Amino acid sequence: MEVIISKTAEEASQLAGALVNNAVRNNPSLVLGLATGSTPLSLYKEMVKACRAGLDYSRVRTFNLDEYYGISPEHPQSYRKFMNDHLFSKLNIDLKNTHVPDGPAHCATYEAAIKAAGGIDIQVLGIGSDGHIGFNEPTSSLASRTRLVTLTQQTVSDNARFFATADQVPRYALSMGVGTILESKKCIMLCFGANKAKAVKGAIEGGMSQFNPASALQMHPDTVVFLDEAAAADLQLKDYYRWAAANQPL
Ligand code: F6R
Repeated sequence: MEVIISKTAEEASQLAGALVNNAVRNNPSLVLGLATGSTPLSLYKEMVKACRAGLDYSRVRTFNLDEYYGISPEHPQSYRKFMNDHLFSKLNIDLKNTHVPDGPAHCATYEAAIKAAGGIDIQVLGIGSDGHIGFNEPTSSLASRTRLVTLTQQTVSDNARFFATADQVPRYALSMGVGTILESKKCIMLCFGANKAKAVKGAIEGGMSQFNPASALQMHPDTVVFLDEAAAADLQLKDYYRWAAANQPL
């Protein structure tokens, strides 16, 4: 993994945004894997800014990592609605090219659609405070595929802030599997804030384990992790990551 530590989440998001925007510039029909949540919002702002400045997103195809199960796409907290509101409605993207998992019966079709698109070129990831990526909670098989999953109590309580009451938070979700994510050509994982420090430490410096699904990225040949100082706080080799970032091999 390449680890890039920035002073702030804002700075990290600008770097990640430049990476995604450049990739779209080089390949206008890029296939992007996307995440929801608080973390990628600043990255999405960078994409919107570039699009408003003339970058063409009209042929870009997207596949979201996950969606709650048990609420409709029109529900204010559905991930489809999140993506439409925060990103798709602000880009010149064709909504027909955007995909969000849609019911347990369609998991195999979702995987087939990713394959038919030629695979995911860049997968954007956040990390859960329990180490999840997508909704692959601890104990998810590192070979898992898109499927219906049960959320942990930790994730339900982390996500309760978006719902009026805790009992409205869905207990189930559809999620790309860890195996699906690992097939992406490139992964960029953004992790911000002190509440992610422990999961980040496990993912980057812990042994690979289904107890921290993000640690499976250690097996991925091209993953860049963008951190702010708070999320990097527990890393043992922090100074090395900074040194390596400043001394890239040619
Ligand atoms: C959401 C997703 C999740 C989030 C993670 C962090 O599509 O894939 O894995 O990335 O739960 O969420 P935030 O960014 O809200 O801290």
